[in-house]
This record gives sequence, structure tokens and C-alpha cells, in this order.
Amino acid sequence: MPEYVFDNSGEQTVDRFAALESLYDKVTVARLGELGVAAGWHCLEVGGGGGSVARWLAGAVGPTGSVLATDIDPSRMDSSAPGVTVRQHDIVTDPLPEAGFDLVHARLVLLHLPGRLRALERIRTALKPGGWLLLDEFDCSYLPLLAAPDEASRELFAAVSGGVHRLIDDIGGDSAWGRNALAAMRDKGFADCASTAYCESWPGGSPGARLHRANAVQVRDQLVGKGIVTAEQFGAFLDLIDDPSLVMNSYLMHSVRGRRPE
Ligand SMILES: C[S@@+](CC[C@H](N)C(=O)[O-])C[C@H]1O[C@@H](n2cnc3c(N)ncnc32)[C@H](O)[C@@H]1O
Repeated sequence: MPEYVFDNSGEQTVDRFAALESLYDKVTVARLGELGVAAGWHCLEVGGGGGSVARWLAGAVGPTGSVLATDIDPSRMDSSAPGVTVRQHDIVTDPLPEAGFDLVHARLVLLHLPGRLRALERIRTALKPGGWLLLDEFDCSYLPLLAAPDEASRELFAAVSGGVHRLIDDIGGDSAWGRNALAAMRDKGFADCASTAYCESWPGGSPGARLHRANAVQVRDQLVGKGIVTAEQFGAFLDLIDDPSLVMNSYLMHSVRGRRPE
């Protein structure tokens, strides 16, 4: 059974990573700044995707620090980006250095993984005492529409977006992980756990809408094949998602921090 519902080799991945970068890098960078990321820090970026956060970290830690950017499929990361070492790596199973990092960051990675609690344990051991973990994770269970052309559009949006979340949950992910991550980190022995949440409005046709489109198109055959929506409904969803009279609440992203105890 696959352990990641999307596929970095798919053409929709370009849009997914571009959307995530434009929508959420500003949030991630603010949270990293609040943790005091500075010159000389040694950082691990887990599931780095398109690599934009790893590149920002490399600039922040400078030549005396280091950034290791991993992904189970790192093909979308620029392996020649200055200051970033890119590695193919499964956070649940592959070796990690012990007490090697001042900071570990992962955005929208553990949400997908049946082995996310094991990954938390392993990240904790990979941190230096006092080192920080920052998780940026969606709570997909909170996804209200702020405006819609009509009631049928609301139902269609809920059917497709809910179907995508169901596919994540069906293979052992937790699409509401954003609301569960802080408790899980406390259970795994992280100290000073705290969370800040972020959301905004996304009109139809905006970068946020393109994130929904990329995700839904990549799993279209599963949504239709499992009878979650019909092919006609899926086509109508693609029209709806570009309609500016639709205004979605963005995904609610919890930025959850905690540190390995001294
Ligand atoms: C939704 S994308 C997020 C990418 C990036 N973190 C961002 O926010 O722009 C999830 C990423 O996690 C990676 N991934 C999935 N399973 C993984 C695993 N077991 N270990 C490491 N990375 C994994 C995927 O290949 C993908 O690049």
C-alpha cells in the first residue's frame, strides 16, 4: 500500500509545490524566525518538496551552519542550491544522526504518514538537547466556505475536498493531524510545546484554488473509481474551483513547536 497519497513525479506536483511556497512560506519563515534560527545552526528539513524552505534556511544559517533537506522523492529539489545538501530519505525508517540538529522542520509531511509517531520519536533523538522541532500541519477537518454561488456548489466542494482527505486517511494518514500534533509531541517527550494557527480567504482561481485543483486532479481516478464523485461532478468541480464567486477558507495550518529537553 502506498504511504503517500500524492506522487512527486506527477505533473500536478509543480503546481502543488508552487502553491505551497507562495501561500505558506511567509508563515513558515515567520515561525522559524520566532525560534531564533541563526548563523551556525544545523538544520534538517524533512520532506522538503520543492526545497524553498531549505533554501531560506541555508541563507539564515550561513556558511558556518548546515541544511540537510530530505525527501522520499527529492527529484523536485535543486540539489545545487548553495548551502543545501539534498538526500533521498524516508523519515520513518532511514538512519538519522543522533543529536545532530539544532532544528528540524517538516511541513505537511507527517500528516501523510502512517508512521508519523515513530517519525516523531526519531526526530526527537536526532535533535541536540534543547533543539527545536517545528511542524507546519493542516487540520483539514476545518475547511468552511466563506462564500459560494449556491448550495449545490457547497456540496460539490465538500464532496471533492472531503474525498481527498478520505484518501489520505484510508492509507493511514491523519488529515486532521494539525489539531493532534501538539498532544502527540508532548506524548513523545518534547518540552515547551506550543502552537500558532494561520488561515486566510482563498477566492476561486487563486493560488489556493490551484492547490485544491492540483491535489484533486492527481487523485481524480481514485475519487471517481471509489465512487466518491462521478466524472461529471469532477468536471464541475474544476469549473467551480476557478469561479471567483467561490471563496474558500484556506487550510488551517498549525505551526507546532517543541524542543528536545536539555
Ligand atoms: C505535501 S508535500 C510538502 C512538501 C513541502 N514540505 C512543502 O510544504 O512545500 C509532502 C512531501 O513529503 C514527502 N514525503 C512523503 N513521505 C515521506 C517520507 N516517508 N519521508 C520523507 N519525505 C516524505 C513527499 O515526497 C513530498 O515531497
